[in-house]
Amino acid sequence: MKGKMLLIVTLFFFVIAKGQKFANLALTPPMGWNSWNTFQTNISEKLVMETADAIVASGMKAVGYEYIILDDGWMTKKRDANGNLVPDPKKFPHGMKALINYVHSKGLKFGLYNCAGTKTCAGYPGTRGYEYQDARFYARLGIDYLKYDWCYTDGIEAQEAYRTMSNALRVAGRPIVFSICEWGENKPWEWAGSVGELWRTTGDIAPVFDGYSDHDGWKQTGVMPIVDLQKGLRKYAGPGHWNDPDMLEVGNGMSTNEDSAHFSMWCMLAAPLIAGNDVRKMSKATKGILTNREVIAIDQDKAGIEGFKYKDVDSLEVWSKLLQNDDWAICFLNRSHKPVKVNFNWKDEMITDSIFNKTLNAKDNIYKIRNLWTKSNEGDTQKPLEAMLPSHDVIMLKLSK
Ligand code: GLA
Repeated sequence: MKGKMLLIVTLFFFVIAKGQKFANLALTPPMGWNSWNTFQTNISEKLVMETADAIVASGMKAVGYEYIILDDGWMTKKRDANGNLVPDPKKFPHGMKALINYVHSKGLKFGLYNCAGTKTCAGYPGTRGYEYQDARFYARLGIDYLKYDWCYTDGIEAQEAYRTMSNALRVAGRPIVFSICEWGENKPWEWAGSVGELWRTTGDIAPVFDGYSDHDGWKQTGVMPIVDLQKGLRKYAGPGHWNDPDMLEVGNGMSTNEDSAHFSMWCMLAAPLIAGNDVRKMSKATKGILTNREVIAIDQDKAGIEGFKYKDVDSLEVWSKLLQNDDWAICFLNRSHKPVKVNFNWKDEMITDSIFNKTLNAKDNIYKIRNLWTKSNEGDTQKPLEAMLPSHDVIMLKLSK
C-alpha cells in the first residue's frame, strides 16, 4: 500500500516537473465563439446568455460549436485585497460562477482570457506573478478553456511564461484547454505542442479578405495574408496541438463568397473554428456558412492533418487535405478580383502529402466527388472538372474511393 502511494506521488511530481499538459484535450480543432472580434470589451452576462441561447437555437451547437469564450475586459481594473481577479460586477451582476453554470446548463463549455504580462492588452490585471493563484481561481470557477495573451511582457521569456501557466493549470487540477496567443512571435509551433492545445501563428485577424487593416502603430491581418503565413507550419499540427490562424470573421462584413472562402480555408487548415460574429442576429447566409456540416467535417476530420497548397496558377490556388480512410478534401480558391475558369484534369495530377506519404492518384483510382457547398454529388474523377469560379470564392470537394 505504502509502495503504491509512493509510486502515485512520484508519478504526480514527475508529470508536474515535466510540465505536461492534460491528456486528450482538443483531439479535433476546438470550436466555439469568442467575444472579441465583434464586442471587444463591451461584454456582459446578458450578451453571454443570449449568445449561448443563440448557439443552441441556430443549430451551431448541434454541428459542434462548444466553447463560449469571454475575451479581454471581463475583470475589474484591480485585483482584490487577496490578489484574486475580480469579474466586473457591473458587467456580470450575478457573478461569473452563475454565468458559467448557465452556459454549462446548455451543454456548452466556457472560456476566459488573460495575459502572460503584467496587464492584458486592454489594460486589465495580467497574470504575471499570479499564475498558480489565477489557475486555482479558474479551476474553482469551473472554466474549460483559457486564452492566454502576450501584452505587457517586456523581459519575459515566452516559452517559460507559457510553460509556467500550463503547469499552473495542471496543478489546479481541472482540465482546461490552453490557448496560447503570442501571435507567432516566438515560433510557438516549435515548442507549444507539449504546453497547450493551440497556438496563434499570426497577429490579429481583420474582416478583410486580402490585405491589412492599419491602425496607429499596429495592423490587423486579412484572411489571405494569414493563409500565406501558415506556410511550413503544417508539420507541427495534429490531434491535441493545433496551429491557430485566429478567430473567424465570418459575418463581420466581408461578402458571402469571401466568408465562405475564409471558412473553407480555415477548415482546410484544420484550424480552430471560433466564431467571432454576433450570433444573435446573423443573416441566413452567415448561419449557412457557419453550420455547413460537411465543410466542418473536413476541419474536424479525426486524422487531424492540416492541408497544404498543392499548386497555384496565377490567382487560382488548389489546396488539398488528407482525410481519414485516405479520402481527400480539395479546395479551389480564386484570389483574384475576376472570375476564373477552372479546368482540372484529375488524371493528370498527382497530389502527394509528403509528410504522410499518401497520394491522390486519379490515374489509377476512381474517386467519387462530393461538392461540399452545393451539397451535391458531382460524378467522379474520370471526367475533368470544368467550372467558372467567381472572384474570392471557392469550390470545395470531398473525394473518396
Ligand atoms: C490581442 C489578441 C486578440 C484579443 C485582444 C484583447 O490583440 O491577439 O485576439 O484577445 O488582444 O485585448
